[in-house]
Formats: sequence, structure tokens, C-alpha cells
Amino acid sequence: HQAPGARPGPRRPDVVAHRGASEDAPEHTLAAYRKAIEDGADALECDVRLTADGHLVCVHDRRVNRTSNGRGAVSALELADLATLDFGSWKGQATEAEEPDRDATSVLTLERLLELVADAGRRVELAVETKHPTRWAGRVEERLIALLDRFAFTGSGPRAQEPSPVRVMSFSARSLHRVHAAAPALPTVYLMQFVPPIYRDGRLPAGVRIAGPSIRILRKDPGYVARLHRAGNQVHVWTVDRADDVELCARTGVDAVITNRPKQVLAQLGRP
Ligand code: G3P
Ligand code: CA
Repeated sequence: HQAPGARPGPRRPDVVAHRGASEDAPEHTLAAYRKAIEDGADALECDVRLTADGHLVCVHDRRVNRTSNGRGAVSALELADLATLDFGSWKGQATEAEEPDRDATSVLTLERLLELVADAGRRVELAVETKHPTRWAGRVEERLIALLDRFAFTGSGPRAQEPSPVRVMSFSARSLHRVHAAAPALPTVYLMQFVPPIYRDGRLPAGVRIAGPSIRILRKDPGYVARLHRAGNQVHVWTVDRADDVELCARTGVDAVITNRPKQVLAQLGRP
């Protein structure tokens, strides 16, 4: 019996590279995303934030301190400031002097990542997570949809790729609601650290058809996957790096696993 929200076929679960192949290469850099595509990942995951001058860049933390040689909040820096920083050497990635392709470890704009997806030569999906969207009162979603529209990635319209290779994820139901209102054909993923009591039966916020529970939720309550499927939803789980967690996801019929080590997870799933 195939659950309504699940996709059939031996490929399940899809393997999503969290911040790129971020175990091997510095997270959120072109180097990490190129490696993930090379490794055979079905999809890429990235976090997006707005710079002071309104560009969407792929950075996880509020500040650039951990992942670059600079300091300060992304929201207080302009793209030109970010472009002077090195997002690779903190992880031992070759620096400018050794690496002619500086592009590979400089700040990654969402626009550049969308180009990579568009030019991948095969279908590669992209899960874009909106970070702190409430701070900007809708500007993150507005910029995101305008950009996706330029790439014909909103899932509808005369030039659109259907289904869209892009989906939008957030811990904020309000952010997903804004996305859904502006681009109803764009799939959205409701991320959960804990399951709010009103959604324990497998339902999700209006318009959302994909749940994004933490693996910790599934370790305690593996039956949640079946409840989500029965309610017609897909299940994309993060962050699935341990072999026993991959096993749990495969056994319970999870649709996608989000992992820092796509190569190893693909191998475990028999997809070298
Ligand atoms: O894929 C969802 C996951 O990335 C959420 O957590 O902190 O890694 O963005 P975080
Ligand atoms: Ca994320």
C-alpha cells in the first residue's frame, strides 16, 4: 500500500546535501555544492539571509564569524563587503593564493546557486530555508520569489519548469504562508524541532504539503511518518548523518533525508 504523500520507486529516500557536501567542503560554498552534485545528491539545501543592501546570500548563522575570516551580522554588511571575505579557509579549503577559482570559496549568493542548479545537466532540486524571516516583514520572501521567477522556478507561469526544482523551507509558518500566497505552485516544507500539539495527527499548516521534522522526533516517534503520509504529506528529515538514522528513515518510508554526507548516505542506500 502506497501512502498518498509518498513517492514510489527504489530511489526513496531522496538524498539532500545539507549546506552542500558540508562534511567534505566548507558549508554554503560553491565548492560544497559542486561536490554534492558530483557525489550524486538528488537535492541541495541552503539557508538564505538578506544583506544590508537587499541581496539574498547563503549563510546559516546570523553573523559571518564562524564560517569566514570576517566579523559582523550579515544584515549589517553589504554584498561588496561580504565579497572580500574568505568562506573557505576556516575549514582548511585552499585560499586565494593556492586556489585559482576563488569563486569556489567566496560568499555564495542565492542567484549563483540557482545558476548552478539550472546548469547542472540533470535535475537537481534545491531546498531554500528562510532564516529569521520575521525580522524583515516579508522582504526575504519577496526577494526570493522575484529571483525564482527570473529562473522560471516558481512552478507556474508560461516559462515555468513543472514541477519546480525549488522548494522553500522554514521553521516559521508565517514565512511559508507568505510564500504560498505569492507563489501557490511552489512547494513548501514546515520544519519542526518539536511537533506542535495541533499537528501531532499528521496535518500541517495550510498550503504546506511537506513536513520537515528533526531526526530526534522520529527516533522517539517513528509512527509520525505514517501519520504524515496518511494525511497526504511528504516527509523530509534533517539532519541524517548516522547510519542507524538513515536505516530508520528508509524503514519508515521517509521521502527525503537531509545530510551533511551525501556520498556516504547514497552508498548506504545502495546508490553509489
Ligand atoms: O534542513 C533543515 C535544517 O537545516 C534546519 O536546521 O540549523 O541546520 O538550518 P539548520
Ligand atoms: Ca538549514
